[in-house]
Amino acid sequence: MARVAIVTGGTRGIGAAISTALKGAGYDVAANYAGNDEAAAAFNKEAGIAVFKWDVSDYDSCVAGIAEVEAELGPVDILVNNAGITRDAMFHKLTKDKWDAVIDTNLSGLFNMTHPVWTGMRDRSFGRVINISSINGQKGQMGQVNYSAAKAGDLGFTKALAQEGARKGITVNAICPGYIATEMVKAVPQEVLEKSILPHIPVGRLGEPEEIARCVVFLASDDAGFITGATLTANGGQVMV
Ligand code: CAA
Repeated sequence: MARVAIVTGGTRGIGAAISTALKGAGYDVAANYAGNDEAAAAFNKEAGIAVFKWDVSDYDSCVAGIAEVEAELGPVDILVNNAGITRDAMFHKLTKDKWDAVIDTNLSGLFNMTHPVWTGMRDRSFGRVINISSINGQKGQMGQVNYSAAKAGDLGFTKALAQEGARKGITVNAICPGYIATEMVKAVPQEVLEKSILPHIPVGRLGEPEEIARCVVFLASDDAGFITGATLTANGGQVMV
């Protein structure tokens, strides 16, 4: 039987590419999304991947959503914590709402999604948790104190949980994408993108969502069983850590 994968934020951007690549690699995929019904329906039609709506920032919704996926597809073997939002603002203009929204989704979302599947992975002695962090969790980014804090937190989460999962056949890894050609990056002011970001990417271009998706497929595979607690950086050489 095919292994079951959940991809949060899996119907758009990097998440859609991950869902599609995992399906292509033979997994039964559930693509979660929080709000955009139209995009999810279009993705479902085009990719033939089941879509499920809940908000990863809410623990009870995650428990209920995961139960729904498991009833339909079976126990979750692979969890890709990809859902993420930005609420960029210089710190002096950063409101408590913008802080909370980003921490709740981008950091607490990992707890809310991973905790309900963890015991099952331990019981079955197999699991893959793959957290999509960010270059800006590694280096920090002006205008993103909230986002950088959450994404750096994702790396701590990954390293601590990896140690707990290691003896149980569960690997926990993070991927740090750089600037990828998605709606999130296209929302950055054009002038900032052209003057302050692109010139700092040695390969001279934005990344493609599929370039992150291929990292996920590798980390999900049996071949990656000795890799845990790792951070896989895919940023066109922008930051070398
Ligand atoms: N890198 C370097 N300089 C930047 C910058 C960046 N990413 N973002 C802004 N700046 C600079 C601007 O060029 C500007 O410089 P000057 O004063 O010399 O012109 C200064 O900071 C202030 O910027 P704004 O005039 O735009 O100020 P604002 O208050 O109107 O807006 C902002 C601030 C909301 C942070 C806006 O600049 C912005 O959206 N910047 C982009 C921030 C960013 O990089 N976000 C990443 C989004 S993609 C993502 O998050 C995915 C991922 O994981 C990589």
